Amino acid sequence: MNVLVVGANGQIGRHLVRKLQESDKHNTIAMVRKEEQKTRLEEQGVKTALVDLEESIETIANAAKEADAVVFSAGSGGQTGADKTMLIDLDGAIKSMKAAEQAGVKRFVIVSGIGVHRWHANNHLEWMDSSPYAAAKYYADAWLERSGLDYTIIRPGQLTNEPETGKVTVAGDLEHKHIPREDVASAIIASLENDRTIGKAFDMIGGETPIKEVLKTL
Ligand SMILES: NC(=O)c1ccc[n+]([C@@H]2O[C@H](COP(=O)([O-])OP(=O)(O)OC[C@H]3O[C@@H](n4cnc5c(N)ncnc54)[C@H](OP(=O)(O)O)[C@@H]3O)[C@@H](O)[C@H]2O)c1
Repeated sequence: MNVLVVGANGQIGRHLVRKLQESDKHNTIAMVRKEEQKTRLEEQGVKTALVDLEESIETIANAAKEADAVVFSAGSGGQTGADKTMLIDLDGAIKSMKAAEQAGVKRFVIVSGIGVHRWHANNHLEWMDSSPYAAAKYYADAWLERSGLDYTIIRPGQLTNEPETGKVTVAGDLEHKHIPREDVASAIIASLENDRTIGKAFDMIGGETPIKEVLKTL
């Protein structure tokens, strides 16, 4: 599978690109926004697309034109204001979905956040101090569910840089707990390789069940 990774220079994105490159089943198109990131990846033999999510849908679609799947793992991060949350976590995600449609790519995996599906019902998530972030994630996921794309929505808990365990817990609703970024990257690839995950949205935290096994239970 040719996988366009949106947010390829991010912390999950870097694990994901490395794991895709190590796999003999996939090729990567790493979407990054800075020239030095492009150079670093190309030195590692990774195909790249230099695109900022604030550019047009057409530009993103052009990056996706050889892809079989798009993974959205970008985010404006905790250091920016609500304006960037809106432009990247919400608008950037939806533009990526529209770009996938324009490029004829059906498969789309998004990295969301644990519990954000309950945002609209509760208007409050006790562990999340940024309401714009929760709202952006909620509406991006809602758009994807209504898009007609073959989607998977992974809602991980608090991300850590602990070493991977290869084991997670998934369910519609989970307690807010930690998960290593590396395990999220593995779960993205396992989702791409398992069509049972199409049309599914789930919380995910560290757990006891091997990732491929747990996805079979969805
Ligand atoms: N932090 C948590 O505990 C947590 C929990 C659940 C879910 N999540 C979600 O998990 C996802 C990935 O997390 P992470 O830790 O890997 O995040 P990260 O390290 O902050 O990576 C985010 C990536 O998005 C890219 N990005 C930001 N603005 C962009 C733009 N205008 N155009 C193109 N790319 C842009 C960044 O590019 P640069 O490298 O150039 O800055 C970065 O590579 C995010 O969606 C986050 O919201 C986070």
